[in-house]
Amino acid sequence: MAAVGSAVGPGNMWRFSYRTAEGGGAAFVLLYLGMTLLIGVPMMMAEFGMGRRTRLSSVGALRTLGGPAWVALGYLFVLTSLVIVAYLSVITGWTVRYAFDGVLTGYSATPGARYAEVSVGSTAMLYHIVIMGVTTGIVILGVKKGIARASLLLMPILFLILIALALWAATLEGAGPGYAFYLTPSVAALMDPLVIQGAASQAFFSLSVGMGIMLTYGSYLSGSENLGREALIVSMADFSVAFIAGLVVFPVIFALGLSGDMTESTMGTLFISLPGAFREMGLMGRVVGVSFFLALAVASITSTVSLLEVVAAVGIDEFKLTRRAAALIAGVLAAGIGVFAALSGDVLGVLDKIAGEFFVVVGVLGTSLFFGWRVAEPIKHLAEGASPSIARALPALVFVIRYLIPPILAFMVWVAFQDMVATLAG
Ligand code: PHE
Repeated sequence: MAAVGSAVGPGNMWRFSYRTAEGGGAAFVLLYLGMTLLIGVPMMMAEFGMGRRTRLSSVGALRTLGGPAWVALGYLFVLTSLVIVAYLSVITGWTVRYAFDGVLTGYSATPGARYAEVSVGSTAMLYHIVIMGVTTGIVILGVKKGIARASLLLMPILFLILIALALWAATLEGAGPGYAFYLTPSVAALMDPLVIQGAASQAFFSLSVGMGIMLTYGSYLSGSENLGREALIVSMADFSVAFIAGLVVFPVIFALGLSGDMTESTMGTLFISLPGAFREMGLMGRVVGVSFFLALAVASITSTVSLLEVVAAVGIDEFKLTRRAAALIAGVLAAGIGVFAALSGDVLGVLDKIAGEFFVVVGVLGTSLFFGWRVAEPIKHLAEGASPSIARALPALVFVIRYLIPPILAFMVWVAFQDMVATLAG
């Protein structure tokens, strides 16, 4: 359940919508599902298994199982988490602001213009700093359990609202091209390395794998847990939320004629289309919109907390800092980095490119090499508690992690690297 809390967040809504819009729609979605099943599920199982065996968080587990050289991978996890939490906090700030919009003024008739106001500037920065403060406070007080429980309560609400919105969107006139874009893949896009790499990064980002987070959660699992089943449930829950969000966003964009606003900033796809929909629904839309954005904000905070925890844990375990000091340092660093993202959408995009696209695939590559080749008897990490059918699949699974995932990921790293360099140069 905690893993679902970390996995479901802005990645499923904001990032999925915007990456799908950029990646050309249906082909991206199909590849994202494929990457989730082929790579995401095995890697989540591997992380769960290593955490459960060592009962340690990422850096400690890497050192114990692999030796001191592998600690470097742990520091990559820390860096990735630090950068991601910095801009995810900015996005969470937008979410809260859109909840206030519903209460105070109702949703704007010009959602594109409203998004431009909400997403950058001093107010965006202020909200970001408040969200980072809340995140840091939660990590310091160690009240993560309470937050996780709140998020689990709200998750079904989020899910039900999404389903209701998807049904409503289906009744809109002119939604057809939205479905076509979202659900009919073009063969050319399916073969495009950039689209494939984007889909892989999105899958890992959304599942929170490749950052040692699921490893840490694995350390709380007992031996009787069936890891394959757990990983499948988490991944499918995560995929469903994203997929249904798309069934709202894309029909709405086409039916309400918002695609012009979107070309200004694909990053705003979710935050332009949904308020547009809430506006259409009148007073009801304000109620639904406020509930939706509040639930999403809480889901987002469970994600920011899990990320900041990775950074703080290293301060505590490796540098012998107190929890308070470690969390404060991590929080201030992330707040500082995030300020730049709050003041410029371009910076936010670049940070997402570096951490959310590039570091994430490097992290998964590192994790697969570590688990497949460095850990002694990888099957032993997964076998405990496995149901008979999953136990039978384990040799194949380890084969996939050893021989299939690393070459695919090495290629993804290369593609992501070139794309990142091109973006930075441009
Ligand atoms: N998986 C989260 C989401 O979908 C974001 C996240 C990424 C959380 C990485 C933790 C680690 O929003």
